[in-house]
Amino acid sequence: MDRFEWALTDEDLASAPAHTPEPVELADLQMLLAGAYAPLDGFMSRADCAAVEQHGRLPNDGVWPLITLLIPDVAVRPEAKAVVLTDPEGAPVGALHIAERWPARKPGHSYLSGAVRAYGDGGLPFHRYRLSAAEARHHLHAGQTEAPDRAGASRVLGFYADRPLHRPQLAQLLHTARQLSAQIVLLVPVAEPGPDGLEQHALLRCVLAAAERLPDPLVVAIPLHRREDQFADGALRARVAEAYGVTHLLSTAETIAGRGPRVLVPRALAYDTRDGQWRDANDVNPRFARLPLTPDEIAQLLDDGETLPEWHTPPGVARELAKARPPRRQRGLVLFFTGLSGSGKSTVAHGVAEVLREEGERSITMLDGDVVRRELSKGLGFGKEDRDLNIRRIGFVAAEVARHGGVAIACPIAPYAAARAVARAMARTAGADFILVHVATPLEVCEKRDRKGLYAKARAGLIRGMTGIDDPYEAPTDAELTIDTSQGSVEDAVDEVLDYLVNGSWISLPEA
Ligand code: ADX
Repeated sequence: MDRFEWALTDEDLASAPAHTPEPVELADLQMLLAGAYAPLDGFMSRADCAAVEQHGRLPNDGVWPLITLLIPDVAVRPEAKAVVLTDPEGAPVGALHIAERWPARKPGHSYLSGAVRAYGDGGLPFHRYRLSAAEARHHLHAGQTEAPDRAGASRVLGFYADRPLHRPQLAQLLHTARQLSAQIVLLVPVAEPGPDGLEQHALLRCVLAAAERLPDPLVVAIPLHRREDQFADGALRARVAEAYGVTHLLSTAETIAGRGPRVLVPRALAYDTRDGQWRDANDVNPRFARLPLTPDEIAQLLDDGETLPEWHTPPGVARELAKARPPRRQRGLVLFFTGLSGSGKSTVAHGVAEVLREEGERSITMLDGDVVRRELSKGLGFGKEDRDLNIRRIGFVAAEVARHGGVAIACPIAPYAAARAVARAMARTAGADFILVHVATPLEVCEKRDRKGLYAKARAGLIRGMTGIDDPYEAPTDAELTIDTSQGSVEDAVDEVLDYLVNGSWISLPEA
């Protein structure tokens, strides 16, 4: 493995260009700064990258995914010695002493390798729980109560809490920690929402509520970001756990590493209704056994506004979860209509909004395509970039509305799938639901309606880039609902949407 040198002066840093990396890269930077990727001390060199790409591992070291930094060439000139890396708000987080630069497959982009150091005060939420690997090990060492084992090391049981801990996980942890006489470390990944979409602060609160039921556990927030690849994630998790002093990792089997902590696969537990204990599922008479709730079952209970049962979830955790994931009828919602001009999406969206306003249970924000283009996106045109920017703005505002429990109803054409996906992701990140309604009225019908005369103009060649004529419309493959206004009345279409909302318990309407 290549080790890097750090030799930058204050002037070097002051005159260095700044760059905001992608979320995974920013998380990697913070992991590197925390010593969590030890022995790695910077973004990987070209030779290390080649080794990882070919063999999945570093020379003389175990399994690693790529830890790289990709930058647009215009952001960092070839002669630059250093680059300051900032969070999305532009606050510096760290600096890279550029050791090597080589062209990437992506045109106009290069990889940079080199040592990193903390710089500035950006990007550090969860401050109190954000221990470096060295701090964590120090803390564990200080808290050591048991005599070290024969090898001279004390045992530390690690667990990745990327979901809230319920009683079965707590029972498992307690049991294993007792068996090993180990201290417990809960590693909470906070670089992104959890796999169930739980926002990071909410996740940490849930974990802290659960941690009260464990004997003096160490809770550490780590900026570990998931990759596309389970194998890479498993390897990285094992690595990071090792850096944090974990000797035994309680983990479902996906953790595969050449070295690192011993991986203990959790046993399947069941709740014994006869004495209220959690024990090995094989040891409980099936007549009296209750199995742990699945993430889907938990989500369903929360959606319906049910309290999570006490046999399964400690009340403190249940309270935090109910706050983080309120029942659907109170949760923020983005109702996003997409379809061709003249498809009727605006008419249907307004119809739905009107019923909801009459009902008065929810606060409604209408983001109508034409109004948005007047107020929020004035000056934008209809090229791909401008359309994408328009949808991004709509997605951003809609997510903010939904973050506070409101219902945002948007009805732009939104012809590109990727831009719609961005809007969906923003809503999710805000803890809200996102429902995509494809108003799939056929082009012929839209064109025949031609209320604004745009199709006629486009056919006559007077305007260019009209969606459906000489500009693309990528029909969604991920719509929650598809309606066609050529098949029935506007009221029918509005009813279809309302039925969907009622069936999913986002709203309740009095019987007609
Ligand atoms: S989007 O592509 O960015 O989602 P948006 O919904 O805001 O489009 O605007 C679409 C509206 O702009 C149409 O209903 C139509 O009235 C008008 N418009 C003007 N030029 C075009 C065009 N080239 N393609 C589509 N719509 C256009």
